[in-house]
Parts: sequence; C-alpha cells; structure tokens
Amino acid sequence: MSEIEPSANIGVVGLAVMGSNLARNLASREGNTVAVYNRTTAKTDALLEAHPEAGFVHTATVQEFADSLQKPRTAIIMVKAGRPTDAVIDELCEVFEAGDVIVDGGNSLFTDTIRREKAVRETGINFVGCGISGGEEGALKGPSLMPGGSVEGYKTLGPILSTIAAVAEGEPCVTHVGTDGAGHFVKMVHNGIEYADMQLIGEAYDLIRQGTGASPAQIADIFGKWNDGELNSYLIEITAEVLRQTDAETGKALVDVIVDQAGAKGTGAWTVQTALDLGIPVSGIAEAVFARSLSSKPKQRAVTGDLPGPSASAVDDAEAFIEDVRLALFASKIVAYSQGFDLIVQGAEEYDWDIKKGDIAAIWRGGCIIRAQFLNRITDAYADEPDLVALLSAPYFREALTAAQDGWRRVVVAAAQSGIPAPAFSSSLAYYDGLRAERLPAALVQGQRDFFGAHTYKRTDKEGTFHTLWSGDRSEVTAEDTH
Ligand SMILES: NC(=O)c1ccc[n+]([C@@H]2O[C@H](COP(=O)([O-])OP(=O)(O)OC[C@H]3O[C@@H](n4cnc5c(N)ncnc54)[C@H](OP(=O)(O)O)[C@@H]3O)[C@@H](O)[C@H]2O)c1
Repeated sequence: MSEIEPSANIGVVGLAVMGSNLARNLASREGNTVAVYNRTTAKTDALLEAHPEAGFVHTATVQEFADSLQKPRTAIIMVKAGRPTDAVIDELCEVFEAGDVIVDGGNSLFTDTIRREKAVRETGINFVGCGISGGEEGALKGPSLMPGGSVEGYKTLGPILSTIAAVAEGEPCVTHVGTDGAGHFVKMVHNGIEYADMQLIGEAYDLIRQGTGASPAQIADIFGKWNDGELNSYLIEITAEVLRQTDAETGKALVDVIVDQAGAKGTGAWTVQTALDLGIPVSGIAEAVFARSLSSKPKQRAVTGDLPGPSASAVDDAEAFIEDVRLALFASKIVAYSQGFDLIVQGAEEYDWDIKKGDIAAIWRGGCIIRAQFLNRITDAYADEPDLVALLSAPYFREALTAAQDGWRRVVVAAAQSGIPAPAFSSSLAYYDGLRAERLPAALVQGQRDFFGAHTYKRTDKEGTFHTLWSGDRSEVTAEDTH
C-alpha cells in the first residue's frame, strides 16, 4: 500500500486532448478534486505544469491512482478505443474493488461495451460506457453525455456528470440512456447523424457553388442567414466560418486549398453496419459514409474525371434555387434524424434498453456536434406520442416536409441535370417517397424470389403463404412460409 491520501472524488485516465480537457472541466466544478493518470507520465507532468489552477492530484502508477481516490472510486477512461481501453480496464480492475465505478468515455463500439460491462460486473465493480460528444472544446466547456451501464453506477456518477455537461435551456445535457452498451449505441447513432448532417451541408454548398457560381464567401453569408431560421445549428454556424476563411498563404478561400478527400474514424461505418444487421434503412447516413469513401479514391477519380456529363448548369433563377436548396437541406435533415431514431428504437428493442427518445433529443441540444434548434421539435414529438412509429409523420415534421417537398424535388432534378452529385439529398427524397408509396415494387421482388428460389409470397386478398409452380403448369399452391 502506498501512503497516498485518498483526496480525489474522481479520476481521469488518459490525458490526450479529450482526457486532459475533461479533467480540467471536472476540476473547474465546485467540490471536485481530480486525480489524473496517463500511461506515459510525461503527459501527466505536462498537464500539471500547464494547469496548476486545476489542483490535480498527480499519480504515476495505477496503484497510486487508485489510492488517491475516495471510495467508492470513480474513474473516467479517455484512451484510444479498442485494445488500449481493454488494457486500462484490466489494470483498473486489479486495483479497484466492488462498488467502485469505471467509466469508459472513449468512442467504444457498443458491443465491446456490452462485453466489458458483463465481465467487469462479475468483479462487483460497476462499468459505465459513456458516449461523449463535443470534441475537445465540448470536453473542456461542457459536452453532451450519453452514459449507459447499471442504475447503481449512475447513482454515484450522475451527479458528477450533471455538473460538467453542457446546459441547454437550463437542463444538463446528460441522461442515463439505458443499461450496458446503450450509451455507446446512442453515441454511435449520434455520430452517424453527424455524418449525414455534414454531407447534406456539403451538398448544399456544392449545389449553390456549382449551380449559381456563388463564391465561398457569398455562400458563407447564405449559411449565416440560414442559421437564423429553422436550420439553426452548430454545424451550419461553423460551415459559414469555414467558408469565410481565407488562406493566408495564397489569398484563396481556405476551402479551395483543402484536399477534397474526407477522412473518417469509423463511427459512421459502425452505424451503417449496425443498421444493416438490424434491418433499418439509414440511407442518408450510408450515403454520407460512402460519399467520404468515394472522395478518398484519388486513383479512381483520376481515371474517371473525363467521363461525359452535362455541358451546363440547369439552374436559371439563382435566388429561387438557393431557397429550394435550403428547403431540400431541411427536409433531408429530417429524414436523417428520423432514420437515426428508427435505429435507436430498433437497437433498444434488440438489446432490451428502455431508451427515452425525447430525452436523447434533449441531451443533443447542447455540447454536441449535431446540436440544433430543431431537436426541441423531436423532443416535443416524442412527448406528444412516446411510441411514435416514424418521426417524419409527427405534425411539425409533416408540415415542414409539406412545405419543402416541391423545392426538394426541384433541387434533386437540377442536381441530376447539372451533373452535380447530391447522393444524400436524392436518397433522402427516395426514402421519403418510398415510405409514402401506396404500393412498392417489393411485390415484384417477391415474385422474382418465388420464381428462382421458391421463397413464397403473401397475397393482398387472402391469408396464407403461396408459391407459383413456375417450372410446372404455373398454377398457385399454398406453401410453408419461407420468407
Ligand atoms: N477527439 C475527439 O474529438 C473525440 C470526441 C469524442 C470522443 N473521443 C474519444 O475519446 C478517447 C480519447 O481521445 P483522444 O483524441 O483524447 O486520445 P487518443 O489519441 O484517442 O488516445 C490517446 C490516449 O490513449 C492512451 N493510450 C493509448 N494506448 C494505450 C494503452 N495501450 N494503454 C494505456 N493508454 C493508452 C495514450 O496514452 P500515452 O500518452 O501513454 O500514449 C493517450 O492518453 C478516444 O476513445 C476517442 O475516440 C474523441
């Protein structure tokens, strides 16, 4: 045993950008004393030197870290997701005891969190997978927090998290999302929606730029105006700032000197993979993930750049077109959020989580990257109808889509005619029309499946399962349901 006094009420492991900012956020709140630990001690030394005001408790070993924490101990891990997180959990489990709380604040895959929670629970230690959104600034000033794990673990943790979370309309942006991996699941969907939101904004910019010839600075002004209306959001706000930025070296708009290949850290792909497994169409998110992949294929783009396209823009009235793009952006954004919430609903059913959809929208209103005014509308929609089957059928969204749909269609047509790629706009519109359709060509697909694989079909006019004897006399027989 070391001689260290247990003076800290919370600890942070992993002091890279997120961990150090979260530790500073914690330390700045009344009543908190924060113990800090990092595998490489030099990082811990540097943090204490840079921020003496935080009053951090410096620890150089995991044993010292455990000894410096008051019981029940609470530690937040902010290290690289994957194996590093497993390694740190194992280390902490060696020195922590039953009743303590280990929080993983990294971007862990929710299935890893489910596995870890089960394993850690067997030791009597509580394990909480907590989604944290807001990037480095959010971590420092107030992130949106999505903790999962046991109700017992949340009892100790909840009050601490409430003090460091962002505040939106007087409420802290944190709620106990559900058990085990629920928090990381919801954070994953949040990131998927973020991908869609960013892609849609990118398409809006590109359509206006190529369609009307407006400059980045002029488009910055357009986004600035949009931010005063129903599109008001962090992403719209920062888009205006990025577009207004001039490159000091060349004097060009910064956006014109940035290589047009978008990177990704994988949470968008996780969202789509999970959606495929659960059978939920998240086409807006998927298009956003694929659009980043397409952009990052320089070799393919080099040999396809001279494929034929239309010779001129199909946009004639620039002002009307810009308003149509605004409407298309809002409508497609509604689709992306609706799809994201469908995935949350299905995930909750599959993994037995009691997730309050309205509360999720509420905690995304502040701190996180997708914070937006219209999240209030989602909260309202679920408050009015907790079992709402499709978000876009709620009265506010129905009205918004009614107002937007003509412009949305015109934009998708103009994009196709002008040869401007707008995959998320057009797939969102197709999704909307798919949901609206009285009859879908799925009937024909069922016929084809029955033809080549005897997969059977249902009829619209009577109960039962049927098969046509395609290779025989083509009469219909009743059959076992094989889907
Ligand atoms: N950056 C963001 O905007 C953001 C937003 C939300 C969530 N997150 C998540 O937050 C977590 C931290 O992100 P970050 O960008 O601050 O840092 P990071 O670059 O993902 O991770 C660096 C940290 O992980 C530690 N680490 C790596 N391998 C380790 C191992 N085997 N054992 C112990 N420690 C190990 C490093 O320690 P050493 O100093 O010893 O190398 C360092 O403290 C990640 O899970 C990330 O996905 C990030």
